[in-house]
Amino acid sequence: MARCTVLFAALLLLSGSVIAESDFSGFEGSDPSDTPTTADPDTTTTTSTSSTSTTTTTEATTPTTTPTTTTTTPTTTTTPTTTTAPTTTTAPTTTTAPTTTPTPTTTPTPTPAPKPTSHINYNVTEDNVTCVKIAGEIFFNINYSRTDNTTVIGKVFVPSLGVEVDGSCNETDGSQFISFTWGKNHVRMNFDPADKNSWTFTDLTASLSMDDLDNATEAGKTLTLTVDYNFNPGEVSVNHSFICRADLSTSNVTAMLDKDHYNPTITSTLKNIQIQAFNQIGKEKDFVDSVHCTADNISDVVPIAVGCALAGLVVLVLIAYLVGRRRRSGAYQSV
Ligand SMILES: *[C@@H]1O[C@H](CO)[C@@H](O)[C@H](O)[C@H]1NC(C)=O
Ligand SMILES: *[C@@H]1O[C@H](CO)[C@@H](O)[C@H](O)[C@H]1NC(C)=O
Ligand SMILES: *[C@@H]1O[C@H](CO)[C@@H](O)[C@H](O)[C@H]1NC(C)=O
Ligand SMILES: *[C@@H]1O[C@H](CO)[C@@H](O)[C@H](O)[C@H]1NC(C)=O
Ligand SMILES: *[C@@H]1O[C@H](CO)[C@@H](O)[C@H](O)[C@H]1NC(C)=O
Ligand SMILES: *[C@@H]1O[C@H](CO)[C@@H](O)[C@H](O)[C@H]1NC(C)=O
Ligand SMILES: *[C@@H]1O[C@H](CO)[C@@H](O)[C@H](O)[C@H]1NC(C)=O
Ligand SMILES: *[C@@H]1O[C@H](CO)[C@@H](O)[C@H](O)[C@H]1NC(C)=O
Repeated sequence: MARCTVLFAALLLLSGSVIAESDFSGFEGSDPSDTPTTADPDTTTTTSTSSTSTTTTTEATTPTTTPTTTTTTPTTTTTPTTTTAPTTTTAPTTTTAPTTTPTPTTTPTPTPAPKPTSHINYNVTEDNVTCVKIAGEIFFNINYSRTDNTTVIGKVFVPSLGVEVDGSCNETDGSQFISFTWGKNHVRMNFDPADKNSWTFTDLTASLSMDDLDNATEAGKTLTLTVDYNFNPGEVSVNHSFICRADLSTSNVTAMLDKDHYNPTITSTLKNIQIQAFNQIGKEKDFVDSVHCTADNISDVVPIAVGCALAGLVVLVLIAYLVGRRRRSGAYQSV
């Protein structure tokens, strides 16, 4: 994608310079007169505007003190205008914040009002640096047996509400993590430095209560998982996030039920995920520059093809234009 964009931009620049060059050679006589004419009204407008304000001020005050009064007046006029604007902007923001904050705090306690969804957006921020941030959906599909002797697949997800988020930007071993706790469930994502300038999503560990799966025969027990999503690319540069529009699914899940191996199939899926870790850019609320997963790059093929076709079209039109010009100027010369 980037390569084609560069190519496209280069072609546009090239065609622009070629057209400009050919215009100069074709209209050499009219060019110098055109340039001052265009510049003149601009200069006149600017001068007249400033002189009008100067005249107004001068007329109001004594002619002797004119230079001093003129200098002070514009400075004072500009300062209040700029100062008033941010003050007015900050005021509604501060007013909205307290109003919004008490409402959710009071609402989750009663119960049904805001329903948690699977779409999460959580972060770990220390010293104004959001080192870890994640948005998207995290699902676990757990094959389990029910009290009626059937086996079904239960879906568990990290909810958007009622979650206690914890994390660290600097564990003693230099790693980072973000964790989510809700009910009897706990999910933790671990990140490690791959080398000095890149990071990797090491794994996701989870302990999920079988109580959250309807009518599970193993109710009361806890499932402990280690999930490897096999990120591709596996390493992301520092100050960059990882984004994947395509689903990332894995069945590489190691599972224990209390102290026993859990054999039924468990898969996990990350949907529309964006993750950043080891970010060092401060005071950035949004995700930092992203790197797409390889699965997404394949879907870039169509835009690349369209972009290249357009670039080709530009070249063709340009050649046709130049050939046409040359023929015409040749015809004039012969006459
Ligand atoms: C974080 O930013 C705020 C506001 O910009 C500033 O007052 C505070 O000192 C900063 N804290 C740290 C630890 O840098
Ligand atoms: C489930 O299977 C067990 C034996 O495996 C049997 O004893 C029990 O009655 C069955 N329960 C139901 C609800 O079918
Ligand atoms: C991380 O913690 C270690 C000690 O555990 C400390 O030496 C180091 O300076 C810390 N790094 C940052 C970036 O805070
Ligand atoms: C769980 O079992 C109860 C009774 O055994 C039944 O009424 C209920 O529908 C079951 N729930 C689900 C989700 O299957
Ligand atoms: C499964 O995950 C483990 C560690 O998380 C890794 O070593 C292994 O290569 C993975 N297996 C597959 C098939 O990806
Ligand atoms: C659950 O796993 C068992 C084997 O452990 C398999 O026989 C069964 O078909 C699976 N159930 C579903 C709904 O996939
Ligand atoms: C990441 O960003 C921080 C803050 O802008 C900068 O100091 C640091 O050098 C950057 N690291 C890399 C590897 O680009
Ligand atoms: C990080 O999460 C806190 C709540 O835990 C939220 O107030 C804050 O706005 C979030 N920051 C970013 C950068 O998303």
